[in-house]
Amino acid sequence: MLSVDKAIAKLIQKNNEFDADKALAAFIQTQKNLGANSVPREFLARLKAQLPTLIQQLGNVYVDYPAFELYIQNLIATMYASYNERPSALKALDQKRAKNPTWFQSQKMVGGVCYVDLYAKNLSGIRAQIPYFKSLGLTYLHLMPLFKAPPLHNDGGYAVSSYREVNPQLGSMVDLNILADELREAGISLVLDFIFNHTSNEHEWAQKCFAGDVDFQDFYLIYPDRTIPDLFEKNVREIFPEEHPGAFSQLEDGRWVWTTFHSYQWDLNYANPNVFLAMACEMLFIANQGAEVLRMDAVAFLWKKMGSDCENLPEVHTLIQAFNTIAKIAAPSLLFKSEAIVHPDDVIKYIAKGECQLSYNPLQMALLWSTLATREVNLLNQALSERNTIAADCSWVNYVRSHDDIGWTFSDEDAEKFAINGYMHREFLNNFYLGRFPGSFAQGVPFQENLKNGDCRISGTTASLVGLGQQDNFAIERILALYNIVMTTGGIPLIYLGDEVGMLNDLGYVNDEAKAADSRWVHRVAKNPLLYKEAQADKNSATAKLFNGLKHLITLRKKTKALAGGLLKTINTRNASVIAYSRVVEDESVLVIANFSENPQRINLDDSYSREMLDLVTNKHVVIQQNLTIAPYHFMWLK
Ligand code: GLC
Ligand code: GLC
Repeated sequence: MLSVDKAIAKLIQKNNEFDADKALAAFIQTQKNLGANSVPREFLARLKAQLPTLIQQLGNVYVDYPAFELYIQNLIATMYASYNERPSALKALDQKRAKNPTWFQSQKMVGGVCYVDLYAKNLSGIRAQIPYFKSLGLTYLHLMPLFKAPPLHNDGGYAVSSYREVNPQLGSMVDLNILADELREAGISLVLDFIFNHTSNEHEWAQKCFAGDVDFQDFYLIYPDRTIPDLFEKNVREIFPEEHPGAFSQLEDGRWVWTTFHSYQWDLNYANPNVFLAMACEMLFIANQGAEVLRMDAVAFLWKKMGSDCENLPEVHTLIQAFNTIAKIAAPSLLFKSEAIVHPDDVIKYIAKGECQLSYNPLQMALLWSTLATREVNLLNQALSERNTIAADCSWVNYVRSHDDIGWTFSDEDAEKFAINGYMHREFLNNFYLGRFPGSFAQGVPFQENLKNGDCRISGTTASLVGLGQQDNFAIERILALYNIVMTTGGIPLIYLGDEVGMLNDLGYVNDEAKAADSRWVHRVAKNPLLYKEAQADKNSATAKLFNGLKHLITLRKKTKALAGGLLKTINTRNASVIAYSRVVEDESVLVIANFSENPQRINLDDSYSREMLDLVTNKHVVIQQNLTIAPYHFMWLK
């Protein structure tokens, strides 16, 4: 593969013979030859505006591809076909969003995520939950992978066998379309995964590739023996070492296939431009089903290069940008959310208007749990002051828990500034959340413990990790303290549904053959309707306290304009356990103060903050003065 610099040099050369104007003219001529009516102005205008960028992006990566001009024509034809199929309601949405492109930065945005089967059995079950989602205040709903997948082992749906069929146990494509329409009418944006790094081994492309079909033989990375795999494995990280060491899995016939994740999840070969084209087609198809946001799964791993760690390579960014340009032409209201659970320096590189407008905030997530364990806000405060700012037209998606494990992806250099050793701190956090550390309240389970290098990640529900149901009085306060940060630091707060009623770990997964080897199932728990009932019926129950507490924060957030967007300024509290920051939008501001310890803490803010303010959370006036005491796990939104 060529390096990017060389590619640019070649491209300039290439541009002399081939440019966007010619490509556009050829497309229009082809349409005429086909006897088609004129191409709609809306599509033509977008194509004209974006085509130079698209050609440049793909030219960077596929410069050596001999039939590049024809390739671009195929891509245009794909986009046009998809545009023509796009339902009118979605075309109307495209126009609406164009008038307000940063709509997702509103403080009214609140997200939820759930598995279709575990939360509501099937897609009609999810439809029936729309009134609940509305009452909770959700405006964004991520449904975990719901497309066709191998029946037994499928990584919770992350091994896709067809992007055009819904898993029959969950419903049909028609059910999905109806659901998407109803969600949109309810003001809830549907978020679906775009699992584009790999497919299942049962996908038609994989089967054809395995069988040696010439059109598909280069769709995946299959090698006859260990020579190349051994060379690559000198530098790549092991993601699921408990399942298979390294990054490759052996096929029945003895060959080796690249599998970053499970053996049945085959990595696609993006060095082959036809893979990009095929996936662009699937992407537009999913968008046309009514997904408003695509969760770009496992972005880091898309491009492979011998001698590198094969993560976050420059080509990955160029390819995602190219996908984005395609969306801008054929489905322009579509947003991308990056799932890059990597070093914070790399996470941020995916976030840009022309790449991913949204991104999970794995650093904040990990540091929330670190803060709870240490009762010290130093690292969280540092992340908020130094790593929270992103492009003004993009947003974080902040979260406490997801369907995945917790990996401790903070920067060792950042930690060193507080004389914290990264390796030892991770070891401490693992011990703490596995309940092995004296006095720990947590009930986590190890995930992918790697005895070779001591790595380990943590599984467990929010409620189990904060010790709910143990002999600890502060579990509910801890959950609310975590969600307080997620609700107030800028971006979209995302609730792992079940958290709002404190669902505990379910160890039953070990009896299920398909799940036993993957401890993440301990926190992928079937909805317990009794807890939801309890939250309504018994006001004094812990469940109701949690549910009402969270709902109160959601309601307040929506009313507090200062929480829109992402501007944030940290404020020194002169107390290791108390964090403070201000949020300002136009003429409105709030000051958030939160105590992360089970003891009352005294703070001393600068005199400039000394005055009486209204705490929006309790609706009481508070006089800010020297030596102000904050109750255990208490937090305030001061106006
Ligand atoms: C993402 C998903 C994770 C899955 C992996 C492979 O990281 O969040 O659940 O195992 O991708 O698709
Ligand atoms: C690794 C990957 C991440 C994935 C996770 C699944 O941390 O970097 O993308 O979500 O594994 O457990």
